[in-house]
Amino acid sequence: MTTTKHLSKHTLPEDVSQAIIEMKTQWRASIGDVPALMAQIVSELEKDIQDIEATQKAGKSAWPEVSYHDIANGGVSADTMALIKRRGCVVVREHFPSEQAKQWDRELVEYVERNDFDNQYRGPGDDFFGTLSASRPEIFPIYWSKPQMEARQSERMHHVQCFLNSFWKVESEGKQWFDPNINYIYPDRVRRRPPGTTSNGLGPHTDSGALERWLLPAYQKVFRHILSGDFHRYDPWDAAYRPDVDEYVGGTTKCSAFRTFQGWTALCDIKRDQGVLFTIPLPAAMAYLLIRPLLDDVANEALCGVSPRKVLPIDEQWHSLLLRAKALIPDLNAGDSVWWHCDLIHGVNPVENQQGWGNVMYIPAAPGCEKNRQYAKQCAEDFKAGRSPDDFPEEHYEASWQDRFQWQDLSSLGRKAFAER
Ligand SMILES: [Fe+2]
Repeated sequence: MTTTKHLSKHTLPEDVSQAIIEMKTQWRASIGDVPALMAQIVSELEKDIQDIEATQKAGKSAWPEVSYHDIANGGVSADTMALIKRRGCVVVREHFPSEQAKQWDRELVEYVERNDFDNQYRGPGDDFFGTLSASRPEIFPIYWSKPQMEARQSERMHHVQCFLNSFWKVESEGKQWFDPNINYIYPDRVRRRPPGTTSNGLGPHTDSGALERWLLPAYQKVFRHILSGDFHRYDPWDAAYRPDVDEYVGGTTKCSAFRTFQGWTALCDIKRDQGVLFTIPLPAAMAYLLIRPLLDDVANEALCGVSPRKVLPIDEQWHSLLLRAKALIPDLNAGDSVWWHCDLIHGVNPVENQQGWGNVMYIPAAPGCEKNRQYAKQCAEDFKAGRSPDDFPEEHYEASWQDRFQWQDLSSLGRKAFAER
């Protein structure tokens, strides 16, 4: 998001440093004994960190796995459900048949080549994904291809998204915060990384706001139990106030939707050691991130490296405890998908001379709430015109392209995803 279209809606405080100092004063007063709270958070997290370390030491993946078949048939075991809740991430095996995913991959290449993307490409439209110097980007700012739309509007995607939404406590504080059986579209890009790629990856970070998580009143309500020093009442799966969060405008990582899970679908087989996704699979680690800057060794106007309009960075200096839990995804087959809770720390490992392709479609879960409905309606207009969606740089490559997915090709689920009947 690089426009000034919504500047009137929510802007950063004029003096960010002063706002941080005031926030810390208030939080310290409401928490009371901050080091004691931190000790409690650390001791809770330590149990899961040790479990993750032991699992990985034994040569196993820390990522829970389910098959699409079990999701569709209600056959996911209670133990697996509990593990997904504990880790905040999951691999869905055979979410799409492998052949289907590989065909989508080929069709995406044809779509891009038929429309002469190589000659049209003007360089990165934002600074989020680094400064890789390539004639083709790693992240393609393509939103409206047939493969993407077919995956988004498929029954298989709907079933998985409903399953993921079901982990959340939707009724809380006397209100239903979203409908887990409705899924709105959140059009995002595709990544295509060719064999031989050398990439620095992406450092560990969280999406859905950085500074916002400390300063926005709606986020302060999301984290109300942490801020009152009552960590045991904090539930990362409580949806209360989550859809009320509007991120500050002006950054390149703005998200106008509430996503229960962020996710992507593999379009080719991807090996775990070929520069791919990792998470810190600790949903409650957000409590650590929020409270860490309140300790005495952090300058009063600082938030452990957080700065306006940038993602929330996780580093050795401030968060070494959490980094012990770093968990790479397992080997994936084309058609598998991976998902992670919207608070979860994640990143992309570096790779040298990548073996095989690394192609994925980003498709998250954006459940039925007013905020997501509004954004989906706005996306419908961008879809009709082939424009880049509002959350992304205004590149609009596809506006003049042939063979975009068309409105009349929408299924009933596809129309509902755009908040149309
Ligand atoms: Fe991210």
